[in-house]
Amino acid sequence: MSGIEINSVLTENRLFEPSAEFTAKARIKSDDLKALYQQAEEDYEGFWANQAKQHIDWHTPFTRTLDDSQAPYFKWFTDGSMNVSYNCIDRHLENKAEKTAIIFEGEGGDVQHISYQQLHDDVCRFANALKIKGIQKGDRVVIYMPMVPEAVVAMQACARIGAIHSVVFGGFSAESLRDRIEDAQAVMLITADGGTRGGKIVELKEAADKALNNGCDSIKHVIVLKRSGQKINMQDNRDTWWSDAVADQSTTCIPEWVNAEDPLFLLYTSGSTGKPKGIQHSSAGYLLNAIITNLWVFDLQDHDIFWCTADVGWITGHTYVAYGPLAAGATIVMYEGAPVIPDAGRFWKMCEQHKVTIFYTAPTAIRALMKFGDDLPNQYDLSSIRLLGTVGEPINPEAWMWYHTVIGKEHCPIVDTWWQTETGANVLTPIPGVTATKPGSCTLALPGMDVDVVNEEGESITEANTGGYLVIKKPWPSMLRTIWGDDQRYIDTYFPKFDGKYYLAGDSARRDEDGYFWIMGRIDDVLNVAGHRLGTMEVESALVANSAVVEAAVVGRPHDVKGEAIVAFVICKGDRPVGEEAEKMAADLRNWVGEQIGPIAKPDDIRFADGLPKTRSGKIMRRLLRTIAAGEEITSDTSTLENEAVVAQLQGEA
Ligand code: WTA
Repeated sequence: MSGIEINSVLTENRLFEPSAEFTAKARIKSDDLKALYQQAEEDYEGFWANQAKQHIDWHTPFTRTLDDSQAPYFKWFTDGSMNVSYNCIDRHLENKAEKTAIIFEGEGGDVQHISYQQLHDDVCRFANALKIKGIQKGDRVVIYMPMVPEAVVAMQACARIGAIHSVVFGGFSAESLRDRIEDAQAVMLITADGGTRGGKIVELKEAADKALNNGCDSIKHVIVLKRSGQKINMQDNRDTWWSDAVADQSTTCIPEWVNAEDPLFLLYTSGSTGKPKGIQHSSAGYLLNAIITNLWVFDLQDHDIFWCTADVGWITGHTYVAYGPLAAGATIVMYEGAPVIPDAGRFWKMCEQHKVTIFYTAPTAIRALMKFGDDLPNQYDLSSIRLLGTVGEPINPEAWMWYHTVIGKEHCPIVDTWWQTETGANVLTPIPGVTATKPGSCTLALPGMDVDVVNEEGESITEANTGGYLVIKKPWPSMLRTIWGDDQRYIDTYFPKFDGKYYLAGDSARRDEDGYFWIMGRIDDVLNVAGHRLGTMEVESALVANSAVVEAAVVGRPHDVKGEAIVAFVICKGDRPVGEEAEKMAADLRNWVGEQIGPIAKPDDIRFADGLPKTRSGKIMRRLLRTIAAGEEITSDTSTLENEAVVAQLQGEA
């Protein structure tokens, strides 16, 4: 039976209890979970202090847990010092030096196993190389790399010396890279000659050169990993090959003991206004939630092989690839390449080959692979898998059922984890051995996370299945600290309502009769395209930056694989392009947006008109545009529009 058919017999509120077998071996049992909730309820700070003592190796133990004197700029464990790389690597060397930390597979099938000892040595050598180049604590280092172990080495090396990294997804364009380098005023760029994806080379160094030749004056050094082997330009006095940089370096590098609150990294993400913002995370608080969620939600145990398919360019690749699982002493899988090479069975083949026990991916990937049917996954032995996870967007029940039946063989719990770049780690999620799940719901808040759905006045909505704002009412250790260089924007974006008392997630949600959370969508102009966050305004700015374009409006429309697809309504200079001319213009603009932001931002559909539908006060009618984009019937009255005639043009009827 294909996944789609399962849907027709599905009821939304079906409960799936964890199997007795899973529960028996799980780290967190029902009583443990109850005790955790109770501790957090009775003594919130004490709860977090206990967790921080239990899970982090401190250089200087902290005595203060939460400093809320400058709320909502919260600080945690402020007088403690530690090092994130030490916690991820060194502390395992006594007992687990030879344990595999990373299993890496390239798209071509090359495999590497890297032990904790080897990872330690590689990180130390690279950290020493950074120091030789003059990188100091607090300096910003941008990492623009393929999904290879060296990306993790680079991140860990920055953490080791207290430098602040900012990973830029390798699929972003030169322009996006430049914006992020300039905003962070980064002094170093770490990149590769090229990466491989879908059988093609991703020209990373070429894009980096384009960015650097067009600004980025703060960059003093570039380190280039040889990966794809194609010819690239190396600039004297600026560019060094990775292999040369580490050649004479020692495998010892004493970690820099940083303050708990010193920034670990920036990660740029989209909002409704302006350019992407640099989400700033702390060291200890971030690491704490990263560790406990890997233990509680992914039930990481010593024998586990954990494969989170996210790229390190996203927050998921930070918390569930580069940091959290390593801090928990786990073995992770990394894959550089596309899921459909050589065919759509690649993930399942790799699960069999590497005996993956925990698999974590995005609903968009599940939907894309589900389309190829059950035969591919059924060709492989998936019996090692014991736990499945999803993240990034709501999972539709039919995809959930397919994941459960065809991949999980009906015995693996599925953790649907809701969280954000800003929260640093999972917030709403089942605990796999305890929480009964419902397809499409991210279930309940973790212990220590005070999450609610509130109305316009900030009051809890107690009525079941009534939507409202998703908020977090108390600070938590891994919350973002600010937006890099823009404290005011931090307040304006995350604390604009309810007297600044609650963190506003930007999502709407409802709770059902069991108190389970169901995410309904964004409340702002943020799109979620194949699990990637994109601001409509970012795409609009890219479009109007083209000299042929006068005005543009961008909206999302539902898409069965990507979740949302991008539809752009464009007004060009001169006459409205029609027919072949329109096709050519649309193709040019798609490429243009690809160059300005990255291929993920290319609109699926571009429509031209003489004007955009606006109210008489000049506001673009976005809701109307969404209706048009979805091909739905327009029920609202359009006669009040300033320019009613354009509606037919945008619908493609004139
Ligand atoms: C959405 C990704 C429903 C949500 C970790 C959120 C989800 C945004 C889920 C953050 C989920 C993430 N169910 N929606 N399980 N997980 N989202 O910053 O809209 O890339 O606000 O972080 O993705 O996206 P971000």
